[in-house]
Amino acid sequence: MQVTINSERLLNELHHLATLTDCPPATDPSFPAPAVAVTRIVFTPRDLEARAWLISLAQAAGFQTRVDPVGNIFIRWPGSDEGLGVVGTGSHTDAIPHAGMYDGTVGVLGGLEALRSLKEYGFIPKRTLELLMFTSEEPTRFGIGCLGSRLLGGVLSPAKADALPDLISETELGAPSTTKPGAPSSPAASSQAKVGSHDARLTLHDVRTAAGFTGPLTDVPLPIGYYHAWVELHIEQGPLLEREMKESALKETGSVLKGTGFSPSGGSRGLQAPEKSTHEDGALAPEESKTILGIVTHIAAPASYRFIVEGHGGHAGALLMPDRRDALTAASEIILSVERHTLAANAEAKLTGESGVDSVATVGAINVHPGAVNSVPSRVTLMLDIRDTDPERREHTMSALRADIAEIQSRRGVRITEERINADTPAISADHLVSTLTALCDDEHIPYKKMVSRAYHDTNFMARIAPVAMLFIPCRNGVSHRPDEYATPESITLGTRILARALAQLANE
Ligand code: GLV
Ligand code: MN
Ligand code: MN
Repeated sequence: MQVTINSERLLNELHHLATLTDCPPATDPSFPAPAVAVTRIVFTPRDLEARAWLISLAQAAGFQTRVDPVGNIFIRWPGSDEGLGVVGTGSHTDAIPHAGMYDGTVGVLGGLEALRSLKEYGFIPKRTLELLMFTSEEPTRFGIGCLGSRLLGGVLSPAKADALPDLISETELGAPSTTKPGAPSSPAASSQAKVGSHDARLTLHDVRTAAGFTGPLTDVPLPIGYYHAWVELHIEQGPLLEREMKESALKETGSVLKGTGFSPSGGSRGLQAPEKSTHEDGALAPEESKTILGIVTHIAAPASYRFIVEGHGGHAGALLMPDRRDALTAASEIILSVERHTLAANAEAKLTGESGVDSVATVGAINVHPGAVNSVPSRVTLMLDIRDTDPERREHTMSALRADIAEIQSRRGVRITEERINADTPAISADHLVSTLTALCDDEHIPYKKMVSRAYHDTNFMARIAPVAMLFIPCRNGVSHRPDEYATPESITLGTRILARALAQLANE
């Protein structure tokens, strides 16, 4: 089947979606074009606008739509046999603060384009095809990634989910600034709320129902077997595909040169090497490199933790150094310990012949109380994101960190508490779906690389209820979660076409 993707329509829609943002365009002159910056936090007016727009596109294309109580959007093209398991695809449109315009959106709008193109081609699916836009793949607002897909996959209890605190209504990662309607609002009462009254904190339940997503979260999970197959299209968010493209372009140049007798060191008798121009930032121009697609075999296991360090605050001038129990200096030791043990885990893995890059850990959010230059910090909240292709190694790193924390706690006289937000297992792609994708690439002579996804995706949790796989397209310099995230129109179109062919094939199994 040679389905044609309407790449202009898809690109226009991606650019339109990028205009639905809550931050101004990036002005950093060191960022290569396009200078977009996207912030689209779940259940904000921007997110609601994007959702309404997506639903209008789907309905205009003749698809059915439904929204579940957590806000996951289902765009449905009924098959001729609705009794059969559904074939699904999809991703997310929420974006962390100051992000780019391709993370998640390529899988949603590419998925929509795949369905539309198949419909326009005249394809009649036997199985129902479904495109999902998941609620809150990003952890920005509720502190946990893949909220919608966790609930769909039955990985997060509906009651726990509804009670998740709304972090954007808080002044810091552990204390609320906004109270629930009806909660006491005197300064005394709100300062009491700050020291931990959970009653006054807005929760997912409050925020989702205020945004119009009502109904019990117990209605969200889907049964195992609902999906016959699940395939998500996404940008790689890492450098491996582009690196391989550069290497194979260089190899090709080498073989062309050999054939012509051209000697790069001179004496070329007028023959020219094909010129390999690059963008200023070193990325290959799209026409010069054959896009390599990524076929994901595993998704690394993510975990995240909140640590609260409580010490003693005081006057930055008057509190003498020997008397201090500074929560921030203790937190700094924790951060360095995270880095040390993660580097050690990689070094140890390398000794056993592994790549030595599979463990990663980041303290990416930290909050200091009271946060004044002339005040010794009394409380610090820090968020740790730790991932590994091997969950046992991840747990080993956590144990080493905990031993350090116990030592820091007693040496510095601070109290450190740990809260596990999530600790997930890796997802493994279904052989059958990996073979479907590789066969389609082979059929079109498209080079591909089987690879591990080190970023997490909603597919991690769809894997709990369905056979899954993912298709990656390269992104410039491996950059993601930054305004200069970029994927070429050619690779977006190619990925979308292979997705469309895979969905068509799976829908007729
Ligand atoms: C997803 O956005 C991730 O952090 O991997
Ligand atoms: Mn992301
Ligand atoms: Mn994503």
